[in-house]
Amino acid sequence: MNNNEGPEVLIAEEDIRKRVAAFADQISRDYAGKGKLVLVGVLKGAFILLADLSRRLTIPHRVEFIAVSSYGKSSVSTGAVRLIMDLREDIDNKHVLIVEDIVDTGHTLHYLLSLLKARSPASLRTCALVRKSERAQIDVSIDYLGFDVPDVWVVGYGLDYAEQYRTLPYIGILHPREEAKHTPTPGDGC
Ligand code: PRP
Repeated sequence: MNNNEGPEVLIAEEDIRKRVAAFADQISRDYAGKGKLVLVGVLKGAFILLADLSRRLTIPHRVEFIAVSSYGKSSVSTGAVRLIMDLREDIDNKHVLIVEDIVDTGHTLHYLLSLLKARSPASLRTCALVRKSERAQIDVSIDYLGFDVPDVWVVGYGLDYAEQYRTLPYIGILHPREEAKHTPTPGDGC
């Protein structure tokens, strides 16, 4: 489907809404009665999924954020990931669910799993809206996965290109003509 106003639609808004609702139902069932669930949103991209998921859960939970920076997103990625902002609260003996917008090479999620596992959570699981299987460089387990997508540049629903498109309500494919419109230039504050 084409959208003349923006990037080509890959995953429609309604399909995302249904998938997030299904995540919420499943997670609410899986963690019912266990208590102390902590959702860990990975900034920045996961902020929209986290907000929608959190509001649909029917069980008590807490929201935390973590920020990391990864280097080398190309096919020659070094896999180096750096912690930029840590959680505010301890997670020992708590059930932790990492919430990601996208798993690409897998290095970010692999790093976060190692980091948080060392803090002795009661359990540690992962949720990602999309995964680019073709780009995987390291095997990471995704307990709640929305969609597998091809190796194209995807934007929307938290995903950006040069900080643009994060608030698009659907996930779209960014073609070179749209990339050119938003190529950062020196002094670009965005
Ligand atoms: C994206 C995404 C993941 C990471 C996945 O973040 O939100 O955190 O990349 O990539 P990987 O599997 O290759 O490690 P990004 O670095 O684009 O930052 P952002 O969320 O702030 O846009």
